Amino acid sequence: MFTHLEALPADPLLGIIERFAKDTNPQKIDLGVGVYKDINGQTPILSSVKQAEAQLLDQQNSKAYLGARGDIQFAELMSELAFGQHHPALVAQRVAGLQTPGGCGALRVAAELLVRTKDEVTIWVSDPTWANHIPLLGSAGIQIKQYPYYDYDNKSIKFQQMLDVLQQIPEGDLVLLHACCHNPSGADLSQAQWQQVVDVLEARKIVPFIDMAYQGFGESLDDDAFGLRLVAERLPEAVFAVSCSKNFGLYRERVGVVGIITESASQVPPVISHLAQIVRGIYSMPPDHGAAIVRLILSQAELKQQWLQELQHMREQIQQTRESLVSIMSSLGHDQFGFVAQEKGMFSFLGITPQQVHRLAEESAIYLVDSSRINVAGLNVKNLPYFCESVAKIL
Ligand SMILES: Cc1ncc(COP(=O)(O)O)c(C=O)c1O
Repeated sequence: MFTHLEALPADPLLGIIERFAKDTNPQKIDLGVGVYKDINGQTPILSSVKQAEAQLLDQQNSKAYLGARGDIQFAELMSELAFGQHHPALVAQRVAGLQTPGGCGALRVAAELLVRTKDEVTIWVSDPTWANHIPLLGSAGIQIKQYPYYDYDNKSIKFQQMLDVLQQIPEGDLVLLHACCHNPSGADLSQAQWQQVVDVLEARKIVPFIDMAYQGFGESLDDDAFGLRLVAERLPEAVFAVSCSKNFGLYRERVGVVGIITESASQVPPVISHLAQIVRGIYSMPPDHGAAIVRLILSQAELKQQWLQELQHMREQIQQTRESLVSIMSSLGHDQFGFVAQEKGMFSFLGITPQQVHRLAEESAIYLVDSSRINVAGLNVKNLPYFCESVAKIL
């Protein structure tokens, strides 16, 4: 039965992890996978998370099934975090939210719901977008098309071209937008640009699908959710996927939220019933631990305060690294990296060729994907000078 299956090409990111693990250079740096690293190169467990885990260990008295929706209070608290407490869509009870295994689970469950709504569903994604968007949405049977987004030459958003294409999109199609910290480019829409995009979506009756995997990693929890909040205020319907992997550092616990903004409160129960049925047909119910941690953090003032400080620390380290990278490169005679300090979140394209990417790995044990996307959160005051000198060498 399985004899005719041929091995698939290795995932480029997994290849990087393997080569990095084997490399014996003590100065090696892995800038492939999107995880935050502290100054010692570790991806720490936040102490707010540790404290919530200690509480769980002490107080949790059952591991009985919770059901397909997972932890309902968690989903409510996450909706408040995403939209802000008194957002009109929440007040009007137009938000259907459900716990999922990570942001990936949210994207996939949403895709399965969308294909139930009509015969052919098309989603327009940014060019480029996070590589996983395509299989996560496409394998549910959604057709994927692209709108122009990042201008590699000018290191900026091709905003006019993006708007021009959005204006041509047929009514009822969806547009996937990154709420903040665009992966892979780090180039985010300004608030004024979000307003213009929403004008077009409204006029053309296009449904936005907002992927928010990095709330709190860009400007602040509120600023990073600006686009999502605007969409939910101005448009009748929207889809969203939220991840707790990065901002709570809960990567492997697999926790996120899928959400649908409905035209009216009466549509929430039917939507939830479909989401729950979809979940039953894929993984039955989500893992609990990560969501229980987030619920405790968001519902206890002291823990929440501590988490907010830890989140701020991660955000500031990333921003500081971006600024230092620009100034060190400039001191080495390379003034072209100013855009790195303007971009947000974990990722930016360095703008070097695949050959130069390979030289970085071979000559300096610095690993990144061929597109030259770097995980800025993998750099810090300790390894940044070595990184910049190595880049200067291959330029
Ligand atoms: C743009 C984007 N969306 C969603 C996710 C989902 O992540 P996870 O499933 O680990 O929560 C990621 C993770 O890298 C991402 O970059």
